[in-house]
Amino acid sequence: MHIGVLTGGGDAPGLNAVIRGITVRGRKNDHRITGFLRGWKGAIENQSVDLDLERVRDIHMEGGTILLSSRTNPFKIENGLDSIKKTYSEMKLDCLIAMGGEDTLGVASRLNSEGLSVIGVPKTIDNDLSATDFTFGFDTAINFVMKALDMLHTTARSHERVIVVEIMGRHAGWIALHGGMAGGAHIILIPEEEFDTDKVCEILKERYARGDRYAIVAVAEGAMDSKLQRHVMHSAEQDAFGHVQLGTGIGIGEVLKNEIADRTDLETRHVVLGHVQRGGSPTAFDRVLGTRLGVKAVEMAEEGLFGKMAALRGIDIVAVDLNEAVGRLKTVPEDHYDAAKLFFG
Ligand code: F6P
Repeated sequence: MHIGVLTGGGDAPGLNAVIRGITVRGRKNDHRITGFLRGWKGAIENQSVDLDLERVRDIHMEGGTILLSSRTNPFKIENGLDSIKKTYSEMKLDCLIAMGGEDTLGVASRLNSEGLSVIGVPKTIDNDLSATDFTFGFDTAINFVMKALDMLHTTARSHERVIVVEIMGRHAGWIALHGGMAGGAHIILIPEEEFDTDKVCEILKERYARGDRYAIVAVAEGAMDSKLQRHVMHSAEQDAFGHVQLGTGIGIGEVLKNEIADRTDLETRHVVLGHVQRGGSPTAFDRVLGTRLGVKAVEMAEEGLFGKMAALRGIDIVAVDLNEAVGRLKTVPEDHYDAAKLFFG
């Protein structure tokens, strides 16, 4: 078979493990593996590289993606879809494996319904894709957040300060929640539940009053104050899939820091963790998950399971419908957040 591979959207540690998994498993059965560069852009412009065992040696240890990534949306580009179809037939592909989040996989699903043989691999540090228990990149991100919070505890305590930490997650608060729980944040704010800044200040004042004179507030970049009823958006720019760019310029972290400082007499600072959350070497969990997803994607190609996505269910990697994955975002369930709230204050 001739199998095309691409990585779209924001990168995630573990992508290279998938690319290696696909290549090693694919070459075992003498499949030709072609990597398209920069996500859908490479498929549109037919820019690709051959992937062989030499090229993927040890890349599972590296973050990012050797195939590069972009947020190119073929639907926003004139003849975008037709160009992909042209590349597919010119390259005589038997299958295209697209790794991405809801946007990349949305395009994959559409292409599949238009007659191409497409398989999806779920990827996002945000962990907000439905139909899979976890996405790779998430574990690496929350471990980084945990370590950052661990470090912030000591300096916050020494200076008796509140430190507000802004964490990635536009629509889902998984990273803030799990990173915040692991890192012992005293308050965690996520997009799924609007918060009240006055209540946040109350919790902080009570904490100081009882003698715990420092605090860490973990806030997801998409979290909203119920009274302000708006996202904090300091950049009106949208990406090709229509998502506002949160956390660029002044985000919720800085706004909340200012509000806390104004409404209490507590000395307050803020930190934006930003793109370091997406960088660096993947954890063991993400390397193994990525590798298994890559192997499974090739098995699915051999079995003709197109229009499907390789997904983690429990401890198994299974084939699920691509449409199931892109239908709706997987947000944090209320009871999950409630458990975290027990530790607030
Ligand atoms: O989708 C993953 C994500 O990391 C979000 O959490 C974040 O809001 C966004 O990407 C940032 O995107 P960009 O790389 O375009 O700045």
